[in-house]
Amino acid sequence: MKNLQKEAIHVLNNNWKDGFSIPCANLYPFQWFWDSGLIAIGFAHFDMKKAEAEIETLLDAQWENGFIPHIIFHTDSDSYFPGPDFHRSDLHPESSKKYKSTGMTQPPVTGFVLEELYRISSNKEATLNFLKTVIDKVYFNHEYFYKNRDPKGEGLVYIYHNWESGTDNSPIWDDIWDTMNPPEYTFERRDTTHVDASQRPSKREYDHYLYIIDIAKEHNYNDEKIAELSPFLVQDPLFNSMLIKSNESLIKIYQLIGGHDEKVKQLQKWQEKSITNFNKKLFDEELGVYVHYDLRNENPLRYISSSSFSPLYANIPSKEQASSLVKVMMDKFGNENQYLCASFDPTNERFNPKKYWRGPVWINLNWILFNGLSQYGFKDIAQRVKQDTIEILENNGFYEYFDSRKEIHDTGKAGYGGNNFSWSAALLIDLLN
Ligand code: DGY
Repeated sequence: MKNLQKEAIHVLNNNWKDGFSIPCANLYPFQWFWDSGLIAIGFAHFDMKKAEAEIETLLDAQWENGFIPHIIFHTDSDSYFPGPDFHRSDLHPESSKKYKSTGMTQPPVTGFVLEELYRISSNKEATLNFLKTVIDKVYFNHEYFYKNRDPKGEGLVYIYHNWESGTDNSPIWDDIWDTMNPPEYTFERRDTTHVDASQRPSKREYDHYLYIIDIAKEHNYNDEKIAELSPFLVQDPLFNSMLIKSNESLIKIYQLIGGHDEKVKQLQKWQEKSITNFNKKLFDEELGVYVHYDLRNENPLRYISSSSFSPLYANIPSKEQASSLVKVMMDKFGNENQYLCASFDPTNERFNPKKYWRGPVWINLNWILFNGLSQYGFKDIAQRVKQDTIEILENNGFYEYFDSRKEIHDTGKAGYGGNNFSWSAALLIDLLN
């Protein structure tokens, strides 16, 4: 175990680039929003300065309206498509003047990451002093979401692009692709020169991804226009769980700091409305889990994915709902031939255990589920998720995602996508400590 941890530290130090981390070499050569947050949790265990710098750099790229972009292009690199020249986020009048970035965001993990840094820190006073310097920026980011991404005032924010979900090519989006007919773009894929194409999204899927960006660009990334026109507009249970968990963390940290009553009150208000409507709108009684809601076409997307269980981490489900989530997880995802937790329902015909977010196990979701299950007292299943995670990484190394079928692991070739992947290493360090 010591060796695995040593290797993980080595991966993180190698992916460190003077102030921020890349998710992995070649495939993802810049800074990604939710990667950065989760990577900081790993660094906090052995190098708090780097953890703090990671967050500082991320927040330094915040726009004047509070928005934080999903990729910050710190360097020129032709190994990635689509780069800054395609995204053109500078069209937005309030975009960062200092950094090139995309004009979309990613699951807002920063709030709970701040709380994690405090939990892990052996010098609480110093860490609290650091938190004081950054927390208002995270609050401002939450304010951006509630002001601009919640047109009906439901306390549930939308995402306008599948890349904002973090679960890029989930089969859930297939239903939305069916409502669109984008042009055939001509472009050179870079990802498939680094990774086997069978593990990545298809060319036709990329046409959809680019087309949504083009629509946003046509309107200079104006949020109101996007809400009106984007063919992709989804209330995502994972994304909203990350926001709600982060709200909870901001409340706790502000209370530790003291003297921020107005902000605490506002966060509590958001929290109440968000949790109530989350349970009302996103819990599917028949399936017994949370599902996504397609706000553009006004219908629920009734599929079960690892995102369906993520509200456990944000303390959203009632005890009964939590039991129902666990039952579905164990029935469909957790038999003895499967590692927990596949990213998409293994009993569904759209399941593909090798293809990115269409089935493989992801370490970040396992970490979220481990913590969520522990909070609700499902100790044995939490332990199983943790054990599975360690075994997967021991068998294969720090890949980006992994086959959920145990039989494939006997070959030692069940790791897919990028190798030496930062958050796989970072979250393993956290699980072991
Ligand atoms: C990619 O390039 O596949 C990234 O996941 C986008 O965020």
